[in-house]
Amino acid sequence: MRIDGISIIGGHGRDGATEPVGRLDLNMGDVVSLVGPTGSGKTALVNDIALFADANTPSGRRLLINGAAPDESFLDDPSLNPIALITQHTTFLSDLPVERFLLTHARVRRSPRPEAAVAATVDFANQLTGEPILTDGAMTELSGGQTRALLIADAVVIGNAPVVLLDEIENAGIDRARALDLLRGYEKIFVFVTHDPGIALLSDFRVAMQGGAMRAILRTTAEERLVARRLMAIDAMLLGLRDRIRGGGRVGAADIDLTEAAVSGGRA
Ligand SMILES: Nc1ncnc2c1ncn2[C@@H]1O[C@H](COP(=O)(O)OP(=O)(O)OP(=O)(O)O)[C@@H](O)[C@H]1O
Ligand SMILES: [Mg+2]
Repeated sequence: MRIDGISIIGGHGRDGATEPVGRLDLNMGDVVSLVGPTGSGKTALVNDIALFADANTPSGRRLLINGAAPDESFLDDPSLNPIALITQHTTFLSDLPVERFLLTHARVRRSPRPEAAVAATVDFANQLTGEPILTDGAMTELSGGQTRALLIADAVVIGNAPVVLLDEIENAGIDRARALDLLRGYEKIFVFVTHDPGIALLSDFRVAMQGGAMRAILRTTAEERLVARRLMAIDAMLLGLRDRIRGGGRVGAADIDLTEAAVSGGRA
Protein backbone atom coordinates (compact mmCIF):
# COMPACT_ATOMS: atom_id res chain seq x y z
CA MET A 1 0.00 0.00 0.00
CA ARG A 2 1.35 3.42 -0.94
CA ILE A 3 1.09 5.89 1.93
CA ASP A 4 0.97 9.63 1.35
CA GLY A 5 0.00 10.55 4.87
CA ILE A 6 -1.73 9.56 8.04
CA SER A 7 -4.10 11.57 10.22
CA ILE A 8 -5.08 11.26 13.82
CA ILE A 9 -8.59 12.40 14.57
CA GLY A 10 -8.63 13.74 18.12
CA GLY A 11 -10.56 12.06 20.90
CA HIS A 12 -10.46 13.11 24.53
CA GLY A 13 -7.88 13.60 27.27
CA ARG A 14 -7.76 11.68 30.53
CA ASP A 15 -10.43 13.94 32.04
CA GLY A 16 -12.82 13.08 29.22
CA ALA A 17 -12.78 16.58 27.69
CA THR A 18 -12.39 16.89 23.91
CA GLU A 19 -8.78 17.28 22.77
CA PRO A 20 -7.77 20.85 21.83
CA VAL A 21 -6.11 19.50 18.66
CA GLY A 22 -8.92 17.90 16.71
CA ARG A 23 -6.82 16.57 13.86
CA LEU A 24 -3.12 15.90 13.32
CA ASP A 25 -1.98 15.38 9.71
CA LEU A 26 1.39 13.75 9.09
CA ASN A 27 2.62 13.74 5.49
CA MET A 28 5.27 11.54 3.95
CA GLY A 29 8.70 12.96 4.82
CA ASP A 30 7.55 14.66 8.02
CA VAL A 31 9.66 14.32 11.15
CA VAL A 32 7.53 15.09 14.19
CA SER A 33 8.16 14.99 17.93
CA LEU A 34 5.67 14.34 20.70
CA VAL A 35 6.65 16.32 23.79
CA GLY A 36 5.15 16.69 27.24
CA PRO A 37 5.71 15.84 30.89
CA THR A 38 5.90 12.30 32.19
CA GLY A 39 2.44 10.76 32.11
CA SER A 40 1.05 13.31 29.60
CA GLY A 41 0.02 10.63 27.11
CA LYS A 42 2.88 10.48 24.58
CA THR A 43 3.16 6.70 24.60
CA ALA A 44 -0.63 6.39 24.49
CA LEU A 45 -0.67 8.50 21.30
CA VAL A 46 2.00 6.43 19.51
CA ASN A 47 0.16 3.30 20.62
CA ASP A 48 -3.04 4.69 19.10
CA ILE A 49 -1.19 5.09 15.80
CA ALA A 50 0.42 1.63 15.98
CA LEU A 51 -2.93 0.02 16.86
CA PHE A 52 -4.82 1.77 14.03
CA ALA A 53 -7.11 3.22 16.69
CA ASP A 54 -10.72 3.34 15.66
CA ALA A 55 -12.40 4.93 18.67
CA ASN A 56 -11.58 1.70 20.51
CA THR A 57 -8.70 2.84 22.76
CA PRO A 58 -8.90 4.87 26.02
CA SER A 59 -8.45 8.16 24.08
CA GLY A 60 -11.24 7.54 21.56
CA ARG A 61 -8.92 8.65 18.74
CA ARG A 62 -9.14 7.42 15.17
CA LEU A 63 -6.36 6.85 12.66
CA LEU A 64 -6.81 7.59 8.96
CA ILE A 65 -4.44 6.50 6.22
CA ASN A 66 -4.47 8.65 3.08
CA GLY A 67 -7.51 10.37 4.57
CA ALA A 68 -9.63 7.23 4.92
CA ALA A 69 -10.22 4.45 7.42
CA PRO A 70 -7.31 2.01 7.01
CA ASP A 71 -7.58 -0.95 4.71
CA GLU A 72 -6.84 -3.79 7.10
CA SER A 73 -5.26 -6.18 4.58
CA PHE A 74 -2.10 -6.20 6.69
CA LEU A 75 -4.04 -7.98 9.45
CA ASP A 76 -3.87 -11.08 7.24
CA ASP A 77 -0.20 -10.50 6.45
CA PRO A 78 1.73 -8.61 9.16
CA SER A 79 4.64 -8.14 6.73
CA LEU A 80 2.42 -5.56 4.98
CA ASN A 81 1.93 -3.51 8.15
CA PRO A 82 3.01 0.03 7.20
CA ILE A 83 3.63 1.13 10.79
CA ALA A 84 6.64 0.12 12.90
CA LEU A 85 6.84 0.99 16.60
CA ILE A 86 10.09 0.90 18.58
CA THR A 87 8.77 0.82 22.13
CA GLN A 88 10.10 2.54 25.23
CA HIS A 89 11.02 -0.74 26.91
CA THR A 90 12.61 -3.26 24.61
CA THR A 91 13.54 -6.73 25.67
CA PHE A 92 14.16 -9.61 23.33
CA LEU A 93 12.53 -12.92 23.75
CA SER A 94 14.57 -14.36 20.92
CA ASP A 95 18.05 -15.66 21.66
CA LEU A 96 18.76 -16.25 17.97
CA PRO A 97 22.09 -14.93 16.72
CA VAL A 98 21.72 -11.38 15.33
CA GLU A 99 22.45 -12.45 11.75
CA ARG A 100 19.91 -15.31 11.78
CA PHE A 101 17.27 -13.09 13.37
CA LEU A 102 17.68 -10.35 10.76
CA LEU A 103 17.86 -12.83 7.89
CA THR A 104 14.61 -14.42 9.04
CA HIS A 105 12.97 -11.02 9.15
CA ALA A 106 14.32 -10.12 5.70
CA ARG A 107 12.86 -13.34 4.26
CA VAL A 108 9.49 -12.81 5.94
CA ARG A 109 9.49 -9.34 4.38
CA ARG A 110 10.32 -10.93 1.02
CA SER A 111 13.40 -8.79 0.68
CA PRO A 112 14.80 -9.35 -2.84
CA ARG A 113 18.38 -9.56 -1.51
CA PRO A 114 18.15 -10.67 2.14
CA GLU A 115 21.92 -10.87 2.79
CA ALA A 116 22.47 -7.35 1.49
CA ALA A 117 19.54 -6.04 3.54
CA VAL A 118 20.99 -7.62 6.69
CA ALA A 119 24.42 -6.10 6.02
CA ALA A 120 22.87 -2.65 5.43
CA THR A 121 20.86 -2.96 8.65
CA VAL A 122 23.88 -3.84 10.77
CA ASP A 123 25.89 -1.06 9.13
CA PHE A 124 23.11 1.47 9.89
CA ALA A 125 22.86 0.29 13.52
CA ASN A 126 26.62 0.47 13.99
CA GLN A 127 26.63 4.12 12.95
CA LEU A 128 24.40 4.84 15.94
CA THR A 129 26.17 2.91 18.67
CA GLY A 130 29.57 3.00 20.34
CA GLU A 131 30.64 -0.64 20.24
CA PRO A 132 29.89 -2.49 17.00
CA ILE A 133 27.27 -5.22 17.03
CA LEU A 134 28.64 -8.76 16.69
CA THR A 135 26.33 -10.52 14.25
CA ASP A 136 27.11 -14.03 15.50
CA GLY A 137 26.22 -13.05 19.08
CA ALA A 138 22.72 -13.65 20.46
CA MET A 139 20.08 -10.89 20.25
CA THR A 140 19.64 -11.17 24.03
CA GLU A 141 23.32 -10.32 24.58
CA LEU A 142 23.08 -6.88 22.95
CA SER A 143 23.26 -3.87 25.25
CA GLY A 144 20.19 -1.64 25.63
CA GLY A 145 21.61 0.95 23.22
CA GLN A 146 22.66 -1.67 20.68
CA THR A 147 19.21 -3.27 20.85
CA ARG A 148 17.46 0.04 20.18
CA ALA A 149 19.88 0.91 17.38
CA LEU A 150 19.34 -2.47 15.75
CA LEU A 151 15.55 -2.22 16.05
CA ILE A 152 15.53 1.23 14.47
CA ALA A 153 17.77 0.03 11.62
CA ASP A 154 15.64 -3.11 11.21
CA ALA A 155 12.38 -1.13 11.01
CA VAL A 156 13.82 1.33 8.49
CA VAL A 157 15.93 -0.93 6.26
CA ILE A 158 14.49 -4.47 6.37
CA GLY A 159 10.97 -3.56 7.51
CA ASN A 160 10.96 -0.63 5.07
CA ALA A 161 7.99 0.70 7.04
CA PRO A 162 6.65 4.02 5.69
CA VAL A 163 5.71 5.12 9.22
CA VAL A 164 8.23 4.66 12.04
CA LEU A 165 7.33 5.51 15.64
CA LEU A 166 10.20 5.82 18.12
CA ASP A 167 9.47 6.04 21.83
CA GLU A 168 12.37 7.80 23.61
CA ILE A 169 15.55 6.86 21.75
CA GLU A 170 17.61 9.33 23.77
CA ASN A 171 17.77 7.09 26.82
CA ALA A 172 19.55 4.44 24.83
CA GLY A 173 22.80 6.40 24.48
CA ILE A 174 22.27 6.61 20.72
CA ASP A 175 23.97 9.44 18.84
CA ARG A 176 20.79 11.38 18.15
CA ALA A 177 22.15 13.98 15.75
CA ARG A 178 23.61 11.14 13.69
CA ALA A 179 20.34 9.20 13.95
CA LEU A 180 18.29 12.16 12.68
CA ASP A 181 20.75 12.76 9.83
CA LEU A 182 20.60 9.13 8.78
CA LEU A 183 16.82 8.89 9.13
CA ARG A 184 16.27 12.07 7.12
CA GLY A 185 17.83 10.22 4.19
CA TYR A 186 14.71 8.03 4.06
CA GLU A 187 11.37 9.32 2.84
CA LYS A 188 9.13 8.26 5.72
CA ILE A 189 7.00 9.64 8.50
CA PHE A 190 9.06 9.59 11.70
CA VAL A 191 7.35 10.21 15.02
CA PHE A 192 9.71 10.68 17.96
CA VAL A 193 8.42 10.58 21.50
CA THR A 194 11.03 12.65 23.26
CA HIS A 195 12.05 14.60 26.35
CA ASP A 196 15.10 15.80 24.43
CA PRO A 197 15.11 19.45 23.27
CA GLY A 198 17.61 18.63 20.50
CA ILE A 199 15.39 16.00 18.89
CA ALA A 200 12.28 18.17 19.35
CA LEU A 201 13.89 21.20 17.68
CA LEU A 202 15.38 19.18 14.82
CA SER A 203 11.87 17.97 13.96
CA ASP A 204 9.65 19.76 11.44
CA PHE A 205 7.06 20.30 14.15
CA ARG A 206 6.15 19.08 17.58
CA VAL A 207 2.92 18.17 19.30
CA ALA A 208 2.65 19.27 22.92
CA MET A 209 0.82 16.73 25.08
CA GLN A 210 -0.88 17.38 28.42
CA GLY A 211 -3.32 15.37 30.51
CA GLY A 212 -3.55 12.69 27.84
CA ALA A 213 -4.56 15.21 25.16
CA MET A 214 -2.88 16.85 22.14
CA ARG A 215 -2.70 20.51 23.29
CA ALA A 216 -0.92 22.29 20.47
CA ILE A 217 1.01 21.81 17.24
CA LEU A 218 4.16 23.94 17.01
CA ARG A 219 6.02 24.23 13.72
CA THR A 220 9.77 24.71 14.29
CA THR A 221 10.81 28.32 13.65
CA ALA A 222 14.06 29.49 12.02
CA GLU A 223 15.25 30.75 15.40
CA GLU A 224 14.50 27.37 16.99
CA ARG A 225 16.56 25.70 14.26
CA LEU A 226 19.47 27.91 15.25
CA VAL A 227 19.01 26.88 18.88
CA ALA A 228 18.99 23.24 17.74
CA ARG A 229 22.30 23.77 15.92
CA ARG A 230 23.84 25.21 19.09
CA LEU A 231 22.48 22.37 21.18
CA MET A 232 24.02 19.85 18.81
CA ALA A 233 27.40 21.61 18.97
CA ILE A 234 27.28 21.50 22.77
CA ASP A 235 26.16 17.90 22.56
CA ALA A 236 29.11 17.04 20.32
CA MET A 237 31.42 18.55 22.95
CA LEU A 238 29.82 16.43 25.64
CA LEU A 239 30.07 13.32 23.51
CA GLY A 240 33.75 14.06 22.87
CA LEU A 241 34.36 14.40 26.61
CA ARG A 242 32.42 11.24 27.29
CA ASP A 243 34.39 9.24 24.76
CA ARG A 244 37.70 10.54 26.07
CA ILE A 245 36.79 9.69 29.66
CA ARG A 246 35.34 6.32 28.70
CA GLY A 247 38.52 5.60 26.80
CA GLY A 248 40.58 6.16 29.95
CA GLY A 249 41.98 9.53 28.80
CA ARG A 250 42.26 12.97 30.42
CA VAL A 251 40.42 16.17 29.48
CA GLY A 252 41.37 19.85 29.58
CA ALA A 253 39.68 23.24 30.02
CA ALA A 254 39.73 23.76 26.24
CA ASP A 255 37.45 20.73 25.79
CA ILE A 256 34.50 22.87 26.87
CA ASP A 257 34.39 25.83 24.51
CA LEU A 258 31.23 27.91 24.76
CA THR A 259 32.33 30.74 22.45
CA GLU A 260 29.90 31.78 19.73
CA ALA A 261 32.18 30.33 17.04
CA ALA A 262 32.30 26.95 18.76
CA VAL A 263 28.60 26.62 19.58
CA SER A 264 27.36 27.72 16.18
CA GLY A 265 29.76 25.45 14.31
CA GLY A 266 27.93 22.16 14.90
CA ARG A 267 25.85 20.46 12.29
CA ALA A 268 22.10 20.78 12.42
N1 LIG B 1 -6.41 10.24 26.24
C1 LIG B 1 -6.31 9.38 27.24
N2 LIG B 1 -7.39 8.84 27.82
C2 LIG B 1 -7.29 7.97 28.84
N3 LIG B 1 -6.13 7.56 29.36
C3 LIG B 1 -5.00 8.05 28.84
C4 LIG B 1 -5.02 8.98 27.76
N4 LIG B 1 -3.73 9.31 27.43
C5 LIG B 1 -2.95 8.62 28.28
N5 LIG B 1 -3.70 7.86 29.13
C6 LIG B 1 -3.16 7.00 30.20
O1 LIG B 1 -2.34 7.79 31.03
C7 LIG B 1 -1.19 7.07 31.47
C8 LIG B 1 0.10 7.82 31.13
O2 LIG B 1 0.19 7.99 29.73
P1 LIG B 1 1.52 7.64 28.90
O3 LIG B 1 2.15 6.38 29.37
O4 LIG B 1 1.14 7.70 27.47
O5 LIG B 1 2.46 8.87 29.29
P2 LIG B 1 3.86 9.34 28.67
O6 LIG B 1 3.70 10.74 28.24
O7 LIG B 1 4.32 8.36 27.65
O8 LIG B 1 4.82 9.30 29.93
P3 LIG B 1 6.42 9.00 30.03
O9 LIG B 1 7.11 10.26 29.63
O10 LIG B 1 6.61 8.68 31.47
O11 LIG B 1 6.73 7.83 29.14
C9 LIG B 1 -1.29 5.71 30.80
O12 LIG B 1 -1.84 4.78 31.72
C10 LIG B 1 -2.24 5.94 29.64
O13 LIG B 1 -2.93 4.76 29.28
MG1 LIG C 1 5.94 7.01 27.56
